[in-house]
Amino acid sequence: MSAPASPARVATAVLSRKGVDRLRSGHPWIYRSDVTDLQAERGEVVEVRDARGRLLGRALSSTESQITLRMLTRDDTPVTPEWWRQRLQAAIEVRTRMAIDATALRLVHGEADLLPSLIVDRYGDVLVVQTLSQGTDTHRDLIVSLLVDLLQPRGILLRNDPKVRALEGLTQEVMLGYGDVPAEVEVRQGPITQVVDPWHGQKTGLYLDQRENHEAAAGYARGVALDAFSYHGGFALRMAPHVDRVLALDASADAVAAIARNAARHGFGNVEALEVNVFDHLRELERADVRFDTIVLDPPAFAKHKGALPKAISGYKEINLRALRLLAPGGHLITCTCSTHVDEGTFGGIIVSAASDAAVPVVVVEKRMQARDHPVLLGVPESYYLKCFVLRRAA
Ligand SMILES: C[S@@+](CC[C@H](N)C(=O)[O-])C[C@H]1O[C@@H](n2cnc3c(N)ncnc32)[C@H](O)[C@@H]1O
Repeated sequence: MSAPASPARVATAVLSRKGVDRLRSGHPWIYRSDVTDLQAERGEVVEVRDARGRLLGRALSSTESQITLRMLTRDDTPVTPEWWRQRLQAAIEVRTRMAIDATALRLVHGEADLLPSLIVDRYGDVLVVQTLSQGTDTHRDLIVSLLVDLLQPRGILLRNDPKVRALEGLTQEVMLGYGDVPAEVEVRQGPITQVVDPWHGQKTGLYLDQRENHEAAAGYARGVALDAFSYHGGFALRMAPHVDRVLALDASADAVAAIARNAARHGFGNVEALEVNVFDHLRELERADVRFDTIVLDPPAFAKHKGALPKAISGYKEINLRALRLLAPGGHLITCTCSTHVDEGTFGGIIVSAASDAAVPVVVVEKRMQARDHPVLLGVPESYYLKCFVLRRAA
């Protein structure tokens, strides 16, 4: 007589009362302290249940991170390969309907596409993928094969070098996922074409989240312009046809070389790029009594974690104060923060304080955010990371 078959193991997580409340609030992340029991291997999809055993949905699990669960579904829908295909397809279709005028754009923006911790960026016929948790990393091969099937790319790069992977016990690595990914890919965003290095460029190659703000800046640009923290010159190049000249500043030698190369390929003779520390250079410009009609400030995230907030706030205040002093009356300042921890209210307060110290009257012309292909998931403040104010010096 054969032994009775043992029931198939089902990966499960049980939530505390607080965890259930959090899940009901709509946030996809459940923290370790709100999980009373976890029976799962690394990155497995688990059934999420309350203390009475009721099924609340399914989630990606992590054995290492404080974010133990990332919700995928909120009902009893099974998470099958077909489920993954449909979620990816939905995200791609949303971008297609947006009719974005660019060959470089984000196709999957993690939580906001209900695919937590997954990023997919398109650069021409190449895709750059980031699997930022144990959950998406475990499903990497499936995700790659579905993307090949859905989009037939030339190649897929697994650009898994963000530091955040360490919180998941994952290594930082960059490797080919499929096909062939060249060292240089030519892309277009609106009227500007650029050569991108998906293997080594910052983020996945470009700051795709600023595309619509580049376009907006072109509408305000005039006279003499300054693009501080320029990277490959996204703002400077888009403003160049509308200004007498534009000075682009970045601390990275590679970025400055890319700005010069990009300006040359468009025949823009009015773009100057300098490899400098913006903090020092703004001081020098002030000493030299220079004035600009248009200024862009797009620094890196100064507050990478909450503890860094006080220092970050003083950094943002300093550059905004100096920029307002350098701005000619009637000129525009397009000022950004991509720090998740600096919310819109805090950023507004920094600008009020900078304008007050600079003793200049300032009006807010527009409040902008990250581009439409990087949407914000309501109720998830972490997904609203890029704030961009357009200000005018009134006198
Ligand atoms: C958010 S990115 C800029 C993106 C760019 N504005 C765009 O739209 O594509 C920030 C840039 O600041 C540069 N950076 C960081 N610290 C700097 C500093 N102290 N001075 C100058 N550049 C700096 C980085 O090299 C990076 O290119």
